[in-house]
Amino acid sequence: MAAPRPQKLLLLLVVSLLAARRAAAWGKEGHIITCKIAEKYLSEEAAAAVQELLPAAAGGELSTMCPWADTVRFRYHWASPLHYANTPGVCNFKNTRDCHNSKGVQGMCVIGAINNYTTQLLTHGDSPKSSWNLTESLMFLAHFVGDVHQPLHVAFEEDEGGNNINIRWYKRKENLHHTWDVSIIETVMKKLYNKTLDTMVEGLNANLQTDDISQWEDCAKTKTTCANDYAVESVGLACKYAYKDAEEGTVLGDEYYNSRYPIVEQRLAQGGIRLALILNRIFDKTNRKAEATMPLYAAQ
Ligand SMILES: *[C@@H]1O[C@H](CO)[C@@H](O)[C@H](O)[C@H]1NC(C)=O
Ligand SMILES: *[C@@H]1O[C@H](CO)[C@@H](O)[C@H](O)[C@H]1NC(C)=O
Ligand SMILES: *[C@@H]1O[C@H](CO)[C@@H](O)[C@H](O)[C@H]1NC(C)=O
Repeated sequence: MAAPRPQKLLLLLVVSLLAARRAAAWGKEGHIITCKIAEKYLSEEAAAAVQELLPAAAGGELSTMCPWADTVRFRYHWASPLHYANTPGVCNFKNTRDCHNSKGVQGMCVIGAINNYTTQLLTHGDSPKSSWNLTESLMFLAHFVGDVHQPLHVAFEEDEGGNNINIRWYKRKENLHHTWDVSIIETVMKKLYNKTLDTMVEGLNANLQTDDISQWEDCAKTKTTCANDYAVESVGLACKYAYKDAEEGTVLGDEYYNSRYPIVEQRLAQGGIRLALILNRIFDKTNRKAEATMPLYAAQ
């Protein structure tokens, strides 16, 4: 392929800067953290299937592919609404009311996507071979399970999940959605984890030893995932913590940070545990056959 012309590059830059406004998801860091936690809780069978499906560029690590869905937002324009769900300004989530894209197509939201890619991955190992690109199914699933845990990804339509609420994060001007996708994570990493992602993952994993994760794992659904419940939790947290005291023009500082970072940490950890649960249930063939009503328990 010929090298792109400078004008084309400039256009691309402008387009991506504009796109950055309607921000993506947990930022890159958030997705990597969630997936690094998930990797630790995969069963042997699930870990093997994940290895088989990962592209070579992943270097054998699921976490490297977890930001992927944000990088294809232009190529796969249809997938944009799959990163979130909007409610009509209320603190509860109702699938039939809230899970659709802007054209009103049902299921085109983060909850529908999680169930969709789970169903596709259940065809892994079928013969004849699945017609889905299961590498993409895995990369989408891993990303969206992260997103559904970001409280402002299941939030109000009117302000686009906080994208239209301009605040200051300490001195910096930004929007509230970005604060939750990126800034709180950056700040906690700087203050508590020596500015390193791996130290943060270690810290979160250490907390998991003492947290009661069996509650997070409780999911009796057999045909779909419990993504709907995770969305209900998210919009509740959006109202109770994200939107609260964060009106347009507010300066958010220590007080906001100190009471919100534990929520962010918990949602990242929950996303990781639940991604592992979903993958274990998908790929653990022996258990799948043995007991159709098997709850989604993590391996450790
Ligand atoms: C399900 O996955 C397919 C393949 O990526 C995609 O075309 C379709 O839009 C997806 N639907 C949902 C609800 O995620
Ligand atoms: C599956 O999707 C990945 C990621 O988009 C792509 O690199 C790969 O070529 C696709 N595989 C097939 C068989 O189309
Ligand atoms: C903090 O990280 C730096 C590398 O970025 C490392 O050299 C240093 O030893 C770390 N400190 C602690 C306390 O882990």
